[in-house]
Amino acid sequence: MSKPSIGVVVGSLRRDSFSRKLALHLSRLLEEKYDVKFLDIASLPMFNEDLDNEADIPQSWQVFRQEVKAVDAVLFVTPEYNRSMPAALKNALDVASRPWGKNAWSGKPGAVLSFSVGKLGGFGANQHLRQSASCLNILMMQQPEAYVGEIYGLMDKSGALDEKTLEFMKKFTAAFTISGMASPIPGISPASLEKSDIKPTLTNIFLKSS
Ligand SMILES: Cc1cc2nc3c(=O)[nH]c(=O)nc-3n(C[C@H](O)[C@H](O)[C@H](O)COP(=O)(O)O)c2cc1C
Repeated sequence: MSKPSIGVVVGSLRRDSFSRKLALHLSRLLEEKYDVKFLDIASLPMFNEDLDNEADIPQSWQVFRQEVKAVDAVLFVTPEYNRSMPAALKNALDVASRPWGKNAWSGKPGAVLSFSVGKLGGFGANQHLRQSASCLNILMMQQPEAYVGEIYGLMDKSGALDEKTLEFMKKFTAAFTISGMASPIPGISPASLEKSDIKPTLTNIFLKSS
């Protein structure tokens, strides 16, 4: 049986970015259970509704939308820019959310790990991403939250992580199970939820699990 797939979206475009190094560590841990695919956001022109028609649509938008649609789940690894997510990441969310009615993110289980050079672990980026994710119907893993602070002390020049951080990464990836956490309504897969009339409200979560 083929493994479910997970698309990894890295929030930084920087060549030597910590985000990418962290994402590589996470992908190695996820590879046992998932087919891991890195989704490129660097080549996406800034979203502009005027271009979103057959004649003008950038090819990279089409490719990215298809790639997002094709994966079973998504993992975001991001730094914080000015207490929010980097513009390139927000742009990627916007690109694959359109055209209206064809939101490619909808129903995907997701998780986010943010980090920072300072102490706060990219809390602002993480929370802003979660805010957009809820609008996009990405079913974000709630716990454990992953805010990795003071990255310089945790990763050496070769990109190797210290043992404690690696242990945390293992817990984080182990908690991310598509079947266990994906559906806000136990027993109903996100894919079927997307097609059904059932809306994951607190009330029906309570009813289904009681
Ligand atoms: C435009 C800009 C804004 C930044 N704002 C924040 C911030 O709000 N909080 C923070 O912890 N770090 C901030 N930083 C520092 C980045 O988190 C740091 O440069 C990080 O290494 C970038 O991620 P990368 O290594 O994956 O490229 C900012 C950096 C840039 C370039």
